[in-house]
Amino acid sequence: MIPISAVRLPPEAEELVLQVIRSGMIAQGPMVARFEHAFAELVGVPHAIAVNNGTTALVAALQVLELQAGDEVLTSPFTFSATLNAILEAGATARFVDITEDDFCMDARRVESAVTDRTRVLMPVHLYGQPADMPVIADVANRHGLRVVEDAAQAHGATVDGRGVSTFGLGCFSFYGTKNLTTGEGGIITTTDDAVAARLRVLRNQGMRERYQYEMPGHNYRLTDLQAALAVPQVASYAETVERRRHNAQRLTEGLDGIDGLRVPRQLPGREHVWHQYTVLATPEAPVSRDELMTRLQERGVGCGVYYPRTVFDYDCYRTHPRVVIDAVPVAELVARNCLSLPVHQHLTDADLDEIVTAVREVMKA
Ligand SMILES: Cc1ncc(COP(=O)(O)O)c(C=O)c1O
Repeated sequence: MIPISAVRLPPEAEELVLQVIRSGMIAQGPMVARFEHAFAELVGVPHAIAVNNGTTALVAALQVLELQAGDEVLTSPFTFSATLNAILEAGATARFVDITEDDFCMDARRVESAVTDRTRVLMPVHLYGQPADMPVIADVANRHGLRVVEDAAQAHGATVDGRGVSTFGLGCFSFYGTKNLTTGEGGIITTTDDAVAARLRVLRNQGMRERYQYEMPGHNYRLTDLQAALAVPQVASYAETVERRRHNAQRLTEGLDGIDGLRVPRQLPGREHVWHQYTVLATPEAPVSRDELMTRLQERGVGCGVYYPRTVFDYDCYRTHPRVVIDAVPVAELVARNCLSLPVHQHLTDADLDEIVTAVREVMKA
């Protein structure tokens, strides 16, 4: 079986974990600080605040903006539930801007017309590792006095016009087990704003700046040094991880481009994709449905998956939620019905990639 994701941590991680264990300081301590510095440097921001998962990163980023009841966050309808859950957890109202089939991200051309008097935050999602069209989204935010919170959970190190995602506003990353960079569970918030960074550090630690000096109602959002020890060597070798994922994506595209009924993903001009997922679309000409393609690939030992089978709000618990406002999102619905992600991770060999291409070609001949 060629798995859709594989976790193999660098050997240096073992040494660092042992170092943490032997230090006796296993909760948030110096290793978390080391990870934060390394990650901030990786994405090109002055501040990175580690937290215990990517959902927490989104919640904390919204909480620090002190949204009021009725404030709206505009986001993508085609994302993991965490994006929507975080908006609701922060007490805001969620609204959606349809995506494009080219980048699977919020359609920047539609953002401005979706802004209302209640909109406070634009929350693009850099899905699959492809950055959203941030220059346009950031421009709308500037002109309307809105804040930007980037859901970069899947896009560590992706750039637009040479600028890192997460540098346009508050950036939120996940280090869940399947991500390009992982601590099992983990997250980080990035910001260029010194005051916001300081508030996030207080919020993460029960609202305390000094021991028992509370400044705001807070939470325990802390990451442990044990987890940070896993991340430090991965940050050091992250350029190679992305390079290998790019190579793999290119090899898949060379093998799959031009198949009738299949649309391969593209890296758009100016945007550096980090290939968290390699996601194809079955088009109306496809001889088999997306679900059949998935089943037949799995039978042949090619791991693949649907991320995501429905728009994020298309469940009763969200459809009936008073703070979820649903507009028509036909492109997201179409993509949810037809998308399929193939393995692209850095541990694949060229032989694996060729096997994936052969399997897809054969199934699509049916
Ligand atoms: C787009 C997106 N947003 C948010 C999250 C939440 O991250 P976590 O699972 O670390 O809480 C994920 C992770 O799966 C994600 O893919």
